[in-house]
Amino acid sequence: MSVAKRDTENRKVTTHRLIEMKQRGEKISMLTAYDYSMAKLIDQAGMDVILVGDSASNVMAGNTTTLPITLDQMIYHGKSVMKAVKRALVVVDLPFGTYQGNSREAVSSAIRVMKETHADCIKTEGGAEIQESIVRILSAGIPVMGHLGLTPQSINKFGTYTVRAREKEEAEKLIDDAHLLEELGCFALVLEKIPAKLATQVASELKIPVIGIGAGHGVDGQVLVMHDMLGITEDFSPRFLRRYANLKEVVTKAVQTYIEDIKRQDFPNEKEQY
Ligand code: KIV
Repeated sequence: MSVAKRDTENRKVTTHRLIEMKQRGEKISMLTAYDYSMAKLIDQAGMDVILVGDSASNVMAGNTTTLPITLDQMIYHGKSVMKAVKRALVVVDLPFGTYQGNSREAVSSAIRVMKETHADCIKTEGGAEIQESIVRILSAGIPVMGHLGLTPQSINKFGTYTVRAREKEEAEKLIDDAHLLEELGCFALVLEKIPAKLATQVASELKIPVIGIGAGHGVDGQVLVMHDMLGITEDFSPRFLRRYANLKEVVTKAVQTYIEDIKRQDFPNEKEQY
């Protein structure tokens, strides 16, 4: 396997640089973040793209879906992340109900995100159904990342979190939507939980970068939810998830040791007081 030369430059990652990475064959790294401290660590570790995902609704607020999170809450998370990030491109999800029904509302939601968080761009879920909203947001000069396949904001329509686009009809619509998003001017696309073969085909047909989550290795980059890859969440174990740490164990052990030290009057000791 030949690995393309890595872009390690410290200057800010732009939408244009992501397209160059695709052209060079360098895979794009992307991870979610929702707060200042974690965003700082992730950025300093060299992540290309940080997504302020509406998965904040699940992992930060404890909701069972992404639907309840509001625009104000997404802006709060976006602002916190932006204070920390120097290099990564920062994408903020437009939450459910702020862009689907009405393109005027869509552009004002996107403008609020850009003005109040200073993020680099926004992400929307869906294809042809939200075409008008995407066109309007782009016409305001705001870069848009698309998201197709398993789109969690439509979970009530799907009724299940299983793999999408296994059937011919849905796969054909996904391919059409992917081309449409590129033609409209989206700078990148997320494909979630679809067959690897289909994702590879889409990535090879499009000029814009295609970032996968549960979409195999034939795409131009990968994204995961930070709490899942760090092993903070334990009740979510899809096949595509690789855990890079077991922070649940680390945190539990540290907290238990702290409790123990307090109880046995070991903390604070002589050196830890004034
Ligand atoms: O909200 C999110 O974290 C996402 C990723 C799963 C791509 O949209």
